[in-house]
Amino acid sequence: MKKVKKAIIPAAGRGTRLLPITKIVCKELVPILDRPTVDYAVSEIQASGMTHIVFVTSDKEGAIKNYFLEDSTLKQYLEEKNRLDLIELLPNYTPSLSFDSVHQPLPSGLGAAVLQAQSAIGEEPFAVTLGDDIIDAQVPVLKQLTNVFDDKKHSVISVMEVSQAQVPMYGIVEGELIGDRLYKINRVIEKPSPHQTKSRLAIIGRYIFTPNLFECLKQTPKGKGGEIQLTDAVALLLQNEPIYAYKFKGTRIDAGDKLGLLKAHLYFGAKELKWKKELKTFFDSLYS
Ligand code: G1P
Repeated sequence: MKKVKKAIIPAAGRGTRLLPITKIVCKELVPILDRPTVDYAVSEIQASGMTHIVFVTSDKEGAIKNYFLEDSTLKQYLEEKNRLDLIELLPNYTPSLSFDSVHQPLPSGLGAAVLQAQSAIGEEPFAVTLGDDIIDAQVPVLKQLTNVFDDKKHSVISVMEVSQAQVPMYGIVEGELIGDRLYKINRVIEKPSPHQTKSRLAIIGRYIFTPNLFECLKQTPKGKGGEIQLTDAVALLLQNEPIYAYKFKGTRIDAGDKLGLLKAHLYFGAKELKWKKELKTFFDSLYS
C-alpha cells in the first residue's frame, strides 16, 4: 500500500452553529487569533508529511484556496515597506504543498463531500480532516494515524473518550483494544442515542482511508439528518476490510460553535508567551 500523501478538507457546510458571521464567511475562514481555522488543519497536514490537499467547498471564488496561494502584490507592497516581519506571517506552504478545490454546490452531508473529491484522490489511500476539530498535539494527529496505517495497511480513525451525555453528538466506535491506544473496530454508529451503545469512543475529525471507501460512499443511503453520512460509509467498508481506531494524544477543541471558538482563541492566546501573563490577569479580573 502506498504512503498517504493526499488529504481532503470538507469545507462546504453551512456553519449554522456560527451564524451570523457564516452568512458571509465560510466557517473554515473564521479566524482563531490571526489565522483562519482551516490554516491550522493545513499546517497539521503538512507537518504529517502529506503533499496535496483537496478542499471541497461551496464557494465558487475559491476563497479558501486563494488564502494559501502567494499574493505577489501584497508581498511586493510589504517588501517596499521593508516589512519582512509581516511577510513571515503570510501563509507559506507552496511549493511543498499543492492545492485543489472541488465544488460542492449544496451541502448534503460529510460523506457526499468526501465522495466529491474522488477524482482528485484516485486509487490511493488518503486522509480526511475536519477543520473545526482543532487538535494541538506534540506529534500531529494525522501523523499518529499514518503511523498506524503504515503498520496495519488498513483504514484508521481517530477517537477520544466522551461522556455518556455527549454520545449523541458524535459518530461512535465499538471495538476491542488490541494495543497501546489502538482498537479494532466492530461497529460504528452515527450519533446514536445513549441506549444504542455502551461505548464512549467518539470519532474526532481525522481519518485515513483506503480508496475502497469511495465505492462504499456511492452505496450509502441518506442517514441522520437526511444526509449522506461518512460514518455510514465506514460501516459498509467494515463489512469488507478491517478498520482501526486510535485514541490520539493531544488537546482537542471543537471550534465549530461559539463557545468552542472562544476557547480556541484563549487556548492559542495563552500559548503565546508574550501574552500569557496579561491574558491571565485580564481573565482573572472577569471572574473576581
Ligand atoms: C461529524 C461526523 C461525526 C464525528 C464529528 C467529529 O459530525 O459526522 O461522526 O464524530 O464530525 O467532530 P458533525 O460534527 O459535523 O455533526
